[in-house]
Amino acid sequence: MDKQHTVMTWWKKAIGYIIYPSAFKDSNGDGIGDLQGIISKLDYLKDLGVDLLWICPFFKSPMDDNGYDVSDYQKVDPRFGDNDDFDLLIKEAHVRGIRIIIDFVLNHTSDEHPWFIEAKNNPNSPKREYYLMLPPKYVDGNMMPPNNWKGFFSTSTWSYDEQSNLYYMHIFSKKMPDVNWSNPDLRNEYYALARYYLDKGVDGFRLDALAHLARDLSFSDSRVALDENGLAFDMNRYSNRPELFDYMREFKDRVFAHYDCVTIGEVGGGISPEQSLKLSGYENGSISMVFNFDTAWENGAYDSVTKKDEELVTNVVKLKTNFDRWYQACDGKAWMPLYWDNHDHPRVLSQYGSVKYRKESAKMLITTLLFMYGTPFIYYGDEIGMSNVDYTDIDDFNDVSARNYLAENKDKYDLATLLRFLRRTSRLNARTPMQWSNEKYAGFSTVTPSQKVNGNYLEVNVEDQQKDEDSILNYYKKAIALRKQEDIAKSVIFGKFSFVDIANNDVICYVHEGSRPLLLIANFRDHETRFPIKFKIKRTLLHNYGEELFEKGVVALRPFECYLFEVDC
Ligand code: BGC
Repeated sequence: MDKQHTVMTWWKKAIGYIIYPSAFKDSNGDGIGDLQGIISKLDYLKDLGVDLLWICPFFKSPMDDNGYDVSDYQKVDPRFGDNDDFDLLIKEAHVRGIRIIIDFVLNHTSDEHPWFIEAKNNPNSPKREYYLMLPPKYVDGNMMPPNNWKGFFSTSTWSYDEQSNLYYMHIFSKKMPDVNWSNPDLRNEYYALARYYLDKGVDGFRLDALAHLARDLSFSDSRVALDENGLAFDMNRYSNRPELFDYMREFKDRVFAHYDCVTIGEVGGGISPEQSLKLSGYENGSISMVFNFDTAWENGAYDSVTKKDEELVTNVVKLKTNFDRWYQACDGKAWMPLYWDNHDHPRVLSQYGSVKYRKESAKMLITTLLFMYGTPFIYYGDEIGMSNVDYTDIDDFNDVSARNYLAENKDKYDLATLLRFLRRTSRLNARTPMQWSNEKYAGFSTVTPSQKVNGNYLEVNVEDQQKDEDSILNYYKKAIALRKQEDIAKSVIFGKFSFVDIANNDVICYVHEGSRPLLLIANFRDHETRFPIKFKIKRTLLHNYGEELFEKGVVALRPFECYLFEVDC
C-alpha cells in the first residue's frame, strides 16, 4: 500500500464548494455575477465552513458555452471584473483560510482565441498544428467532413472553415475548436499557463474535459450505430486513450510536482475506476483525483424524453454499487472527490430528493455525501435546497447544449415533451441566480438577471434560512463542522468504509470505521421504511427529524429521514 494513503493532505480534509460565477452574486448591477460578488460573500462561505472553492471559468470569452470557450486564458472577462479583482479574490480568500482552484479548459479554446485565428489565417503558422485541421473528404464529388464522428453537443465533431479550406475538430460546440495535445509546443503553452496561475497563488485546478485530450489520430470512420444524420457517437475515439496518461504525467513532472496544489480531472467518457488510477493513483498517477459521472444520473433522467415524471425513480442500489466500485478500486490507492451535482447536471434535490420534502431530503443528501470516502464538493445553492427551474418558456433554456438538442429533436417531440425534458435534465437547472434573500431578483442583483431567477426564491433563500435554526442552511453548517472535527475527519479519511445491506432498494447505509466509527442510515424514498440496526449506538451525531423512532433494533424511517450515529464497531 502506498504511504501517501496514510498522509493527511490539506485537500483530503477540505470541504469544497462549486461556484458558477455568472450566477453567484452580481456586485455592479449588470445582471451577471462577478468576482467582486464572490469577494462580498467570502464571509458567508467561511461561516458555512467550506474552505476550497472551485470557480467555473471567468476568463475572456465570447460566451458561446458560458466561459468554457476561452479566448484569453490570462485575462478575466470584463463581465466578471478584471485581473486585479482576481488577485484580490485570492488574497481575501486566503486571509479567511479558503483555497481557490480555477477551472482550466485544456481540451479546446474559443474560435476567437488568437491561436485559432492564426491557425486559420496562416497555412505556414506553427499554430495550425495546435488544432486538429483536416482536408475535406469527397464522396461522389460532394464535400464531406473527414469522418462520421459525433460530439457531445448533438453535432458532427467537424466544422468547415472556408479560409483554410479545412475542417477542424470540436467535440463540443463549433465555436470551441479542440486543441492538439500531440503537439509538444501546444503542451508547453498549457504548462506555462498553469505555472502562471500557480505563481499567482491559486491552489490548483479543476481540469475540464480531461478525458478527451488524446484522440484517435487515424481519424477513421467509427463503426458504431449511426444516428439519423449518419453520425456515430463513439466516445472511444476521443476519450481516455493511452496517450492521455502520458500527457498528464508530463504535466505533473513539468508543473504540478513543483507546487503544493490540488488537481482534479473531469473524466467522463466511460472511464473505469481501475483505468482512472493511471491518472490519480498515489503510485504512478499524475493528478490528485478525478471527478467521475457514475453517481450523477441514477434516476433515469438522462435519456428520459419520453418518460413520465413518475417513471423517474432513484436507483438506490445502483448508486451504492457505483460508489462502492470506485471505493474498492481507490481504497489505499487513490483519493476521490464526492459530489451530487455541478453546473452540468440538474439540481440534486430534484433528482434524488424531493421538492415536497425539501428540508428533509436536502439535509439527508448532504449527510450521506459528507461522510463517505473522499473530498466533498457542495454545489452553490444546494445548502439552501435550491431545485430545478420552473421555466415555462422554451427560450429560457438558452444554453448551447440545450439549443443544439432542440434543433436536433424539434420535429420528433412536441413542445410540452421537450419542455418537460429540459426542466428535468438541462444544465440551466443548476445555473440560476443564487437565492440570497426574498427581495426582488432574490437579492442576487438589482436588475433583471441574465439568467431568470427560480420562482421559488420567496420560500428558498439564504436570509430567511439564516434566521431559522432548523433550516437546511443551519443543518449544513452543523454537518460540515462535524465533518471537519479532527477525529471525525480521520475516521472518514483513513477508516475502512463499507455499505451495510447494499441490496436494500430504499436505504443507503454505510459504516466508516476508525477512532470514531460512524454509521449512516438514509432513506431515499418519500415513503416510510424500516431498517435494522446491528451496531451498538453510542450517540446520534446528526438527524434530520425531531423525535428518534426505534423499536427493537429497527429504526422506523420517515420520508428522507437520516441518522448519523457514532457506533461501537
Ligand atoms: C464542462 C462543461 C463544458 C464542457 C466543455 C465540461 O465538461 O463542465 O460545462 O460545456 O466541458 O468545456
